[in-house]
Amino acid sequence: MRVLLLGATGTIGQAVAKALAERGYHVTCPVRTSAGFKGALGQDRIRALLPGVDLVFVGHALDAFISAEALQREQIEVIVSCLASRTGAPADAWKIDYGMHSALLSQARLAGVRHIVLLSAICVQKPQLAFQRAKLAFERELIESGLCYSIVRPTAFFKSLSGQLKRIREGKPFLLFGDGQLTACKPISNHDLASYMASCIEDVRMHHAILPIGGPGEAITPLQQAEYLFKHLRMTPRYRRVPVALMDVIIHGLSLAAYLLPSLADKAELAKIGRYYATESMLLWDEASARYDAAATPSYGEQTLFDYYDQLIAGRQHANLGEHAVF
Ligand SMILES: NC(=O)c1ccc[n+]([C@@H]2O[C@H](COP(=O)([O-])OP(=O)(O)OC[C@H]3O[C@@H](n4cnc5c(N)ncnc54)[C@H](OP(=O)(O)O)[C@@H]3O)[C@@H](O)[C@H]2O)c1
Repeated sequence: MRVLLLGATGTIGQAVAKALAERGYHVTCPVRTSAGFKGALGQDRIRALLPGVDLVFVGHALDAFISAEALQREQIEVIVSCLASRTGAPADAWKIDYGMHSALLSQARLAGVRHIVLLSAICVQKPQLAFQRAKLAFERELIESGLCYSIVRPTAFFKSLSGQLKRIREGKPFLLFGDGQLTACKPISNHDLASYMASCIEDVRMHHAILPIGGPGEAITPLQQAEYLFKHLRMTPRYRRVPVALMDVIIHGLSLAAYLLPSLADKAELAKIGRYYATESMLLWDEASARYDAAATPSYGEQTLFDYYDQLIAGRQHANLGEHAVF
């Protein structure tokens, strides 16, 4: 079966490329010639990162490849998309997470593609941010299109929960919002999420479905993450507690300043994204009880965040933080 994979140079895209190739699919990946965070990946590096798939280098924009003609020429039956804005800034999110996907969907329908597997995010269940609204707008279009869809809404990725390891190794305190127990998540590894997404192609139970998904084990709080890291680094725990009210002041200040200096609008949105993750759990939201429900959040896979921390501490893995370096 011939599969088109978009976003193959991203964190999850790389893992999905591997999972699809291992399952024997014929995978075509259109990629930009300067890909990766801040365009740091050149063609040789991309080839080394993505073995076993057909790479099509498309210059700076994917649009040329996303046409009914190209999809028919490549005999694409299924599209898997891990394409997403790298910044989450409003204009970029609407351009990529909504606009590019919407254009892709129209071309896919013309070309007779039968199934789209979409990487989304569990946080769209409580949309407050521009990128969440952009994702939801495309989810709706996809559902209404009549095509078979599998919308995968994962919980937190390991990379997004690893940004403070460097800080505490440098002797700085772990930053906690509130008491460090305002939120919890069931993190999922790149490998496990990729395997789950690849399963969407064959498993009919995952067709015409919205699929929230977390990793194995109990939900964990930021405080538990910090305690684990300090213990396994054999360091005395040090914390700096950041009041959520302080973030509100920063967001308010940036939003006001953006009236005078529009370039600050993206910074205000990034601060809102930070506040959202500091106060909202990456777990299934139960509308009836108006609370997050860890037990009802589906689990998949075998790799735990703490296994990953062990590997980071031992130097067997390196966290590729990209834009998550601030957390
Ligand atoms: N971080 C988390 O904890 C978390 C949790 C749940 C869900 N999610 C969701 O997971 C998704 C993907 O995450 P990720 O970490 O794998 O993303 P990522 O590493 O930032 O990768 C994004 C991919 O999209 C491509 N892309 C971005 N802008 C593009 C453009 N203008 N033209 C062509 N390609 C473009 C990138 O290509 P280049 O390499 O060429 O830039 C890259 O392949 C996001 O939707 C996010 O909301 C994240």
